[in-house]
Parts: sequence; C-alpha cells; structure tokens
Amino acid sequence: MSSAPTPSRSVIHGDALEWLAAHPGTPGASLLTSLPDKAELGLPIERWRPFFQQAASLCLQAVDEEGLCVFFQTDNREQGRWVSKAGLVLAAAAELGVPLLWHKIVLRRPAGSRSMGRPGYSHLLAFSARATVPAEASSPDVLPELGELPWSHGMGLAAAEESLRTIRRASPSTRLLLAPFCGHGTALEVANRHGLDALGIERNRKRAERARGDR
Ligand SMILES: C[S@@+](CC[C@H](N)C(=O)[O-])C[C@H]1O[C@@H](n2cnc3c(N)ncnc32)[C@H](O)[C@@H]1O
Repeated sequence: MSSAPTPSRSVIHGDALEWLAAHPGTPGASLLTSLPDKAELGLPIERWRPFFQQAASLCLQAVDEEGLCVFFQTDNREQGRWVSKAGLVLAAAAELGVPLLWHKIVLRRPAGSRSMGRPGYSHLLAFSARATVPAEASSPDVLPELGELPWSHGMGLAAAEESLRTIRRASPSTRLLLAPFCGHGTALEVANRHGLDALGIERNRKRAERARGDR
C-alpha cells in the first residue's frame, strides 16, 4: 500500500515583489499572506501605500485562476485617522477585476474592548477569479479568536487554519501554497498539515531560516 508523499516546504530568502513579478499565474497555486505594515518597513505612509498596493496586486496575479488569494491584514491608525489595509486590498482586486469570495473579521480582543492602538480585529479577505464557495462549505463570518500568535506581526493560527480549510474546499485543484512575506512561516506549516506543498519568500534571513524549520 502506498502512502501520500510528505508535502514539501521551501523558503526563498529574497524580495517577494521581485519573485511575484517574475511568476504570475503559477499553475495549481493558491496564496496566503500578511503584507507588511509601514512600521515594519520603516516607511512614511506616502511611500508605504504604493508598496502595499503593488504587493497586493502582484499577489492577486500570482495564483492559478482556480486558486484562492487570501490576505490577513490588520488596519492601523495614523495621526487620528484610520488606514484601511482591507480597503487597499479590495481596491487592488477591483482594479484587476478579481471577485471577492468572502471577507471575515477575526477578533484580536473581546468585542466591546476599547483601544487607541492596533484595532481589536483583523481582516481575512479571500479572492478568486474562478472559484466559488458552495453553500455546504460556508463558514463563520466572525472568528472569535486569532488562535496562537507565534510573534507580534504573525498571523494567528486559527485564522491560517480557516484560510487553508477554505482553500481546500473551494479550490480542490490547489497543490501549492505560496506565502510571500512569510515571516516565521505559519502559513507554510498549516499548508503542509493540509497536505499542500508550500513555498515562502522572506527578506529577513533569520525569519526565512525559521520558516524553513531550521530553528
Ligand atoms: C506581517 S509580517 C508576516 C508575518 C507572517 N504571516 C507570519 O505569520 O509569521 C511581514 C513579513 O514580510 C517581510 N518582508 C518585508 N518586506 C519584504 C520583501 N520586500 N520581500 C520579502 N519579505 C519582506 C518582513 O520581514 C516580515 O517578516
């Protein structure tokens, strides 16, 4: 009796924008990412915004037409104003004509909590040119918690799990999960657990090593 091969995991230490621009429409690929915040890049908002828009657009173009492109993003505040990363991702998808499959809210703190810093919720947004979610595969619009958070800029495990479950259901032809800006590699780990090969791209050497599993 033959058992299923162990899914692969590789991480490129390099610039995700360059990689994405060189690899549009990878066959059999879906994508899960959390694009960097301006604080992580040390950029003023007017330089961060075009970076973010270009990154979102390249991610949306990197997947198979039957695949999903999922973003986990937390909005922020800038001098008393709200900066909506979800809005920027939606605008990039609208410009490319890629439909939204769902938009979920992931609670970071209990509903009703007050804060002037990072908002109490994150967004999970899933897009696909061709895939749809069948009624029997519907899932909650509000996730009550992030799940384990391996580091401050990471993606909660519960949010990553929910994303992979949807990718498996809505895009059964997906074989490979792309994770540009993969950080510590949460998306890669969860993809492997779901039996998918995983490819991360990360600019920070230590995080790239960690994402490969070289702890
Ligand atoms: C929000 S974090 C991603 C966290 C990740 N989802 C996790 O759960 O660990 C963004 C990551 O993008 C990386 N990064 C920033 N600019 C990059 C670039 N141009 N190419 C590749 N990685 C980049 C940062 O080093 C950081 O690890």
